[in-house]
Amino acid sequence: MTAPLATPPETKLDPNRVMSPAAAAVADQIVDPAVYADQARLDDAFARLRREDPVAWCEPQNFRPFWALTKHADIMEVSRQNTLFTNGEREMLSLKDIERQVYADLGGPHLLKTLVQLDDPLHYKLRHLTQEWFMPQNVKQRSEAVQAIAREFVDRMEDMGGACDFQQDIALHYPLRVIMQILGVPEADEPMMLKLTQEIFGAADEDLMRDKSLIQSEDSAAGVESIQQTLAAFFMYFSNITKDRRQTPRDDVSTVIANGQIDGAPIGDLEAMSYYVIVAAAGHDTTSASTGGGVLAMLQSPDQLSKMMGDPKGLSKTAVDEAIRWTTPVKHFMRTAQADYELRGRTVLEGESLLLCYPSANRDEDVFEAPYEFRVDRSPNRIASFGYGGHMCLGMHLARLEMQALYEELFSRIKTIELDGAPSFIKANFVGGPKSIPVRYRF
Ligand code: HEM
Repeated sequence: MTAPLATPPETKLDPNRVMSPAAAAVADQIVDPAVYADQARLDDAFARLRREDPVAWCEPQNFRPFWALTKHADIMEVSRQNTLFTNGEREMLSLKDIERQVYADLGGPHLLKTLVQLDDPLHYKLRHLTQEWFMPQNVKQRSEAVQAIAREFVDRMEDMGGACDFQQDIALHYPLRVIMQILGVPEADEPMMLKLTQEIFGAADEDLMRDKSLIQSEDSAAGVESIQQTLAAFFMYFSNITKDRRQTPRDDVSTVIANGQIDGAPIGDLEAMSYYVIVAAAGHDTTSASTGGGVLAMLQSPDQLSKMMGDPKGLSKTAVDEAIRWTTPVKHFMRTAQADYELRGRTVLEGESLLLCYPSANRDEDVFEAPYEFRVDRSPNRIASFGYGGHMCLGMHLARLEMQALYEELFSRIKTIELDGAPSFIKANFVGGPKSIPVRYRF
């Protein structure tokens, strides 16, 4: 494993490497947050790479270069080899200037130490602390509590009297309530949690930033400071929770984190805080995006909507997976090669990074029949949305359970539902989905 560096490593190790025509045409697009708010443009860019250069060397402006992997099989091949392809150096896209600023401030690549930024053995040990909690048999025990929350949200929709913004009023808050209940955060604190998680994930969207002037700013120091302020607010909140759960343990994930031990010693404060951040943030925006995006896809394919309304319980399982494929809420993760590696005829050199393009894997013609069609009964459905290997999404069983509960409740009660205006989307190259879905309906 590479030793920590005082400045970000220069990714490009082979000076003779050049971009293919396809990569040169789309490299700037696949890092651009605005392109992720325009599905047709994104689909075109990824389809071209899959066709012409599936393991593409990309040198986008303002980012360190990387290999973009756009085929399902290649993303799986890399994801399952966690010793050869690690997360620690560079787990996600970040502007070069921001990376430099973080190194300057902290002497390393990360502001946090979350599971997605760590490698084994520490990653495995930390993940192990809560893994049990998120296993199917345990998650199933929460079914009734989750169904009660789903009922409450569909009641709320009914009470709104025939029109609402499905994303803003329902899809955004429902997964938040579920994950906050699991963390043991009181309902009164949810608006603050919502704001903080959105600031972390939606940092490039002008509507979601803490300081809106930063979107135009070239000032990376101010950008890093803004993220640090958000994290500081998180830290402050959860250090009180830690204190409380150490004194009075409860049946929640915060108690497991606060009292977690590794090799016989309590986990460090930074590890504990990072754990709360990843569970709170990863457990919310991702699921809101797929919950809302799945409903939107049905509204845009009326035959699929009527199929779903005809058999909500029978179809909820496949419809939920199709919603998660269709929306692919997590747009990428990255890995760094620890040794030279041959992939689809290209040689990835030790130290080079790879961008795992999940939205592309989920439209791969070699894996999915009619990948650009939304089908509520798609089966099999080998979705790439949850990643694979040692970092595969810890919350995937919970995400599926909560989406199924909401879809079953909604589609068994609602009589009609249709779009009532144009939807809009979040500009984010990491986690994103619909921002607004205006709907008209009748119960
Ligand atoms: C549809 C919803 C979701 C999607 C699409 C999603 C997607 C992902 C992806 C792509 C990864 C990285 C996988 C990899 O590197 O191979 C991940 C990791 C993770 N997810 Fe999710 N996620 C979702 C919901 C949730 C929920 C509800 C939780 C709640 C606890 C959660 C917690 C986590 C955690 C803790 C990790 C880090 C795991 C590790 O690095 O070991 N996710 N997720």
